[in-house]
Amino acid sequence: MQIITEPRQMQTIAEKLRLNRQFIGVVMTMGALHEGHLSLIKLARQSAGTVILTIFVNPSQFGANEDLHQYPRPFEQDVALAKAAGVDYLFAPVAGSIYPENYQTTLKCGSLSERIEGERRPGHFNGVATIVTKFFHITKPHIAIFGEKDAQQLAVIRRLVEDLNLDIKIVAAPIIREENGLAVSSRNIYLSSQERNAASILYQGICHAEKCIGEKQKSLPAIATEIERMIGSTPGCRPDYVVFVDEERFEPVEIAEEEKEYRLLLAAWFGAVRLIDNGKIRA
Ligand code: PAF
Repeated sequence: MQIITEPRQMQTIAEKLRLNRQFIGVVMTMGALHEGHLSLIKLARQSAGTVILTIFVNPSQFGANEDLHQYPRPFEQDVALAKAAGVDYLFAPVAGSIYPENYQTTLKCGSLSERIEGERRPGHFNGVATIVTKFFHITKPHIAIFGEKDAQQLAVIRRLVEDLNLDIKIVAAPIIREENGLAVSSRNIYLSSQERNAASILYQGICHAEKCIGEKQKSLPAIATEIERMIGSTPGCRPDYVVFVDEERFEPVEIAEEEKEYRLLLAAWFGAVRLIDNGKIRA
């Protein structure tokens, strides 16, 4: 595995790979690699001849009061995991080479990026869209794998690929869960063992939604309210949002229509840690 830190060098390598007819798959991360990331790499490995992993804690997607400076950066451990997972190139630039002095350009996404998670984290998805687009240009992939865990991020990236006519196939990787149902996430390391147990309530909420829909309950806000109550009555937990949305626009949906698919989005606080989760629900 080769480690590259300079954008221009990565670009030259990617260009050569393409000239040699290599099929490139990219997995973008902020490091602190876990089972979820490894599953994305595995998916990339299945169809791509060359796998590029990016590790970059992207400042432009963090709000002023968020955890940019505390975000875990176990680089040596990440290198070992990436190597063992079969990554060919690890692209790990420093912030100054991605956002040099006098950097000015940011992508602005539309309404999809402003609701639900975007409402809580203004500008977050613009930051994600900007770095993802920059990394597309630097790594020149044919396919890019993103986790369904960040469902709205995935929808924003699909939208941007479509809107900007990027010739890149976006592949969604299923959520990896711990034994108690907790979705694997880099931020789980901030949880105490009590909070970790409590956080399985998000998955229990998704299971409850599936049960209600299976019983042909139609009012999605009513089900969401019940789930919020479940979360709120779990010690140490505070719900942020629970909402059913359509898969494309992420607009809240009121009534479940037979045979249709919806996305249940959940966010909650466990002590000082905010976690998100989601599930696809078929009526
Ligand atoms: O999902 C993440 O880890 C980040 O948002 C991404 C896609 C790597 C962009 O910084």
